[in-house]
Amino acid sequence: MTGEKAPDQRDGDAKSRVGSMLLAVCVAIRNVVVGGNLASTGLIGSPQKLVAYVSESLFLYRLMAQKSDLPQVQVWKGLGLPAEAARIEVMLCAEAAEEWFRNVPSYGMDLVSLCTLCRLLRPRVIFEIGTLRGSGALHLAANSPGAEVYTLDLGPSDRPSLSTTVVDDSHVRYHSEVRKYYFSGRPEEQRIHCLFGDSAKFDFSPWEQRVDLFFIDGAHSYNYVHNDTLKALKCCRPGSVLAWHDYGRAGLNGVSKWLHEFRGQGRQIYRTPGGSLAYARL
Ligand SMILES: C[S@@+](CC[C@H](N)C(=O)[O-])C[C@H]1O[C@@H](n2cnc3c(N)ncnc32)[C@H](O)[C@@H]1O
Repeated sequence: MTGEKAPDQRDGDAKSRVGSMLLAVCVAIRNVVVGGNLASTGLIGSPQKLVAYVSESLFLYRLMAQKSDLPQVQVWKGLGLPAEAARIEVMLCAEAAEEWFRNVPSYGMDLVSLCTLCRLLRPRVIFEIGTLRGSGALHLAANSPGAEVYTLDLGPSDRPSLSTTVVDDSHVRYHSEVRKYYFSGRPEEQRIHCLFGDSAKFDFSPWEQRVDLFFIDGAHSYNYVHNDTLKALKCCRPGSVLAWHDYGRAGLNGVSKWLHEFRGQGRQIYRTPGGSLAYARL
């Protein structure tokens, strides 16, 4: 099979790309109207910075207002550990950590929380959806000595089969240009296994009931997060931890919509205070 698509399919792809671009523009305008303030008028000449600023201000608002949100609970409490167990050393890998420690602080909080989860849970088998440049995979491995880390991303000829967001499309393009992972040449590389495929079609059966920590950070549309969660549930067992990145972020975000629905099914799900990492112990 080649990667060539029939003209009808190419037309359909182009139409859906235009549709999702239009939707993204509408959401950006809504965020500027709802999340903007007097200070943000100073960014009117830099539309990208303006959208990033108002999105972050909405994210912060939701964090502080705590309206219909997941409860904010530190991971040591969420895992039910006594306070005296909460003396934790996490390992940050400087160059790779720069992907998370940006001018917006919540991403750094997410990385520290993810590393903390590893330190407390001591998983033997970890599965991540969404490798990108391997920053998450490296930190998962570095903070889980002895664990095997499996990380799945699209291969060169794979295309997402479910709907994606505009930001997902830019990540997919970025990933296709990655030539070297952060873990390349590091000792952790021996324990990190790259897998390729679309998470909606990938065969997860070899990992069924084997995964202790499952980190979902692939595409962020509702359809993908829903799909990835159901696949992850099959790979986990009682006591395993499921974690999702980008909960509560403003914009096209299926993570929040799906997790509120998932919580409605009787699941106990938390988010980390100040961050966008959500997690549940099964
Ligand atoms: C936000 S990035 C992942 C960041 C990464 N976890 C890290 O720690 O740096 C999302 C990644 O998911 C991948 N992705 C998007 N759709 C996917 C799909 N359907 N199946 C597998 N991977 C997908 C993208 O190619 C991209 O590399």
